Amino acid sequence: MENLIKDIAIIPVDDTAACDFKVTQEENTGKSKKLYIESYGCQMNFSDSEIVASIMKESGFDTTSSFENADVIFLNTCSIRDKAEQTVRKRLQQFNQLKASNPELTIGVLGCMAERLKEKLLEEEQLVDVVVGPDAYRDLPNLVQRAEDGIKGVNTFLSREETYADIAPVRLNSNGVSAFISIMRGCDNMCSFCVVPFTRGRERSRDPHSIIAEARTLVEKGYKEVTLLGQNVDSYKWSPEENNKARLNKKGEDITQLITFAKLLEMVALVSPHLRVRFSTSHPKDITDEVLYTMKRYPNICKYIHLPVQSGNSRVLDLMNRTYDREWYLERVQKIREILGDECGISSDMITGFCSETEEEHHDTLSLMDQVCFDFSYMFYYSERPGTLAAKKYPDDVPLEIKKRRLQEIIEKQHLLSMKRNQLDIGKVQEILIEGPSKRSEVQLKGRNSANKVVIVPKEDLKPGDYVNVRILDCSSATLFGELLN
Ligand code: SAH
Ligand code: SF4
Ligand code: F3S
Repeated sequence: MENLIKDIAIIPVDDTAACDFKVTQEENTGKSKKLYIESYGCQMNFSDSEIVASIMKESGFDTTSSFENADVIFLNTCSIRDKAEQTVRKRLQQFNQLKASNPELTIGVLGCMAERLKEKLLEEEQLVDVVVGPDAYRDLPNLVQRAEDGIKGVNTFLSREETYADIAPVRLNSNGVSAFISIMRGCDNMCSFCVVPFTRGRERSRDPHSIIAEARTLVEKGYKEVTLLGQNVDSYKWSPEENNKARLNKKGEDITQLITFAKLLEMVALVSPHLRVRFSTSHPKDITDEVLYTMKRYPNICKYIHLPVQSGNSRVLDLMNRTYDREWYLERVQKIREILGDECGISSDMITGFCSETEEEHHDTLSLMDQVCFDFSYMFYYSERPGTLAAKKYPDDVPLEIKKRRLQEIIEKQHLLSMKRNQLDIGKVQEILIEGPSKRSEVQLKGRNSANKVVIVPKEDLKPGDYVNVRILDCSSATLFGELLN
């Protein structure tokens, strides 16, 4: 039966999270049961929900956009800050009533919160039937089946190999123009504030052939943009035959053809010149000049780098275990400007009020922001996460009001910098990719330029997926406004 795409529910969930939406979309292929998924947290989690939908489809479930009609409800959760977990708990309380009127309903908690809390979640949240961590999604049909028979289940096994490389994701949150491709999983970095290494396990890279195959399929389906996803894409590595292990010839020479992130980027860029390629997240300690030169060489690799700095002060960066200092970060930015020019977009994540951060150190973050002039930033105040290095070693000693005041200061600074950067675009001609309707007006459409900025243009006879040249006429701190050329 033909796929029917109905409405998409998009509701903001977290403070200023990097990706703060939950999305669910209807797919009707005539299956007898209905699955409703809500996703929280980062793009990787959204991408995982598409894998989950695919696994569940194989065992007889279509997705639905209304939880009232669902046989199974999954919350794919995030643990990055306490607030993200609180949001999920509130949502679970709302589902309590639903479960009371429909005891057949199965409720599952997936993702990072499932991994962090494991069995405890079943004790704490009585209505939950299954708890499944990010590496155990292949076990979902089995666990759901058992739950239907009245047996609750937990699988939070973390794998060193699982990349779901063979699973074709069901595109859930798609506009038919842009899609995510996961290129790796986990993280080995151990930033002291961060829960991700504990919830996602060890870093592993996905077979590049399966990545290229996925990009080709997307092109065949009419997609125009892919975003390659990983917590630290610059440490992507794959060698043929045995992943990440050296192969020696008879003379003992290493003949491993290591595929680095730069190489992978090139391979994806070559899939089609009409496919835009983006990636996220880059780590300042690992981003190489080779990646920057590859970006320069291929016009379809977007000139935009999300390069989270976290703090502008070297002592704080050291406590955060980021393994670079202020000077290193500024040198990387200088290199980006040197190789890719001023037009390359650079964005960041910042945390205020990390353990023992002084007022002066906070000012170092503000001054670094001025120096780099970020196009935009995702900004947070520090939220201590149980089990992390920082929680064990350093007291969470900056009072909440001060954390919040410092956050407000960096938000205001970023607002000014975004405006300044956007004003530089006025008068320029840029190619944009049309993504869909503009929120504000029916006679306008929303597109994006290479540097990842939203550009509003007149609708005329354009449609999502069209490339169009525009001249930028005006801007706000968040948006550019353009006129169509030719
Ligand atoms: N892998 C990415 C970050 C993923 S988490 C990187 O290394 O840059 C997204 C962002 O959430 C982080 O960049 C950080 O700014 C923020 N974050 C992570 N843990 C946090 C915590 N405990 N409190 C506040 N913000 C946090
Ligand atoms: Fe967390 Fe650091 Fe890994 Fe990013 S690189 S996911 S901040 S541990
Ligand atoms: Fe959250 Fe897990 Fe992503 S903690 S930010 S959903 S990796």
